[in-house]
Amino acid sequence: MNDSFPPSGLPADSGLPAAVGVLGGGRMGAGIAHAFLVKGADVLVIERDEQSAEAARERVESAAVKSIERGVVDANLDEMVSRLTVGVDYDAFAGRQLVVEAVPEDWDLKVTALRGIEERLADDAYLASNTSSLSVNGLARELKRPENFLGLHFFNPVPASTLIEVVLGERTSPALATAAKGWVEALGKTAVVVNDAPGFASSRLGVAIALEAMRMVEEGVASAEDIDAAMVLGYKHPTGPLKTTDIVGLDVRLGIAEYLHSTLGERFAPPQILKDKVARGELGRKTGKGFFDWPS
Ligand SMILES: NC(=O)c1ccc[n+]([C@@H]2O[C@H](COP(=O)([O-])OP(=O)(O)OC[C@H]3O[C@@H](n4cnc5c(N)ncnc54)[C@H](O)[C@@H]3O)[C@@H](O)[C@H]2O)c1
Repeated sequence: MNDSFPPSGLPADSGLPAAVGVLGGGRMGAGIAHAFLVKGADVLVIERDEQSAEAARERVESAAVKSIERGVVDANLDEMVSRLTVGVDYDAFAGRQLVVEAVPEDWDLKVTALRGIEERLADDAYLASNTSSLSVNGLARELKRPENFLGLHFFNPVPASTLIEVVLGERTSPALATAAKGWVEALGKTAVVVNDAPGFASSRLGVAIALEAMRMVEEGVASAEDIDAAMVLGYKHPTGPLKTTDIVGLDVRLGIAEYLHSTLGERFAPPQILKDKVARGELGRKTGKGFFDWPS
């Protein structure tokens, strides 16, 4: 690995790369940048234009302030923020040891972005995508060094979530697989290692339960409240599958179900009730109504 960056805030044995890059400083990218900053890495966030870069800086800094105020992080804000660089030029990725791509979930956008990053990285640097549904093997096939590429599926909101899916492509090197598990641990989170497959582990299982819950509402088996209560009280789910669907967004879940239907078969066919609600604009919490009402 390239070691030309002084690990400014990083303990020698942290197990994290000292110089990390993040492409796209939106909801997830800002959270990922914050996660590495908190543990002492130098973090570079690259955005698509100056205005987005400024917004990304604000998101990361605001996460840093909140984590210190809440006492979750014992760090000096100025020192932490001094290790953050935000810009718009991909050339700045040169010398980064790990770059995590977190641009929107669009195949062409991701491929162009990943290729653009790869050509600026050293041969031994690592590249990860935070994709939540695209094929890691498919993306790897678009790259020159697929052995240095994998999926790092962070969860939203990143600071509060302890899970990261480490998604291995067929050509991901064993060295990278081992390193990635170490990074996740060093970030204070838990790695679930998944061989690339549609929906990875989390979305596939989460959506399967949610689709069955929707079919049960459709068939009049029980109310949405009671179906969720069965999972919360009986199986210790923190929120029921239908409330989770409302929070994630019915449109988002429909998109994932359609993708899983096309890749994994009939068992993921979206129920009519889901399609109808999306068509009526009942998208869950963000629109005030989904399987439940969400008064503003
Ligand atoms: N939001 C979630 O709950 C969630 C959870 C897990 C994974 N993901 C995945 O994370 C990725 C990002 O999602 P998000 O919710 O953070 O999206 P977002 O829209 O909040 O952020 C995307 C950011 O990328 C920037 N961007 C767009 N094109 C760019 C380019 N060419 N170069 C640099 N920056 C560019 C945008 O300006 C924006 O700030 C997606 O692949 C998504 O599937 C999202």
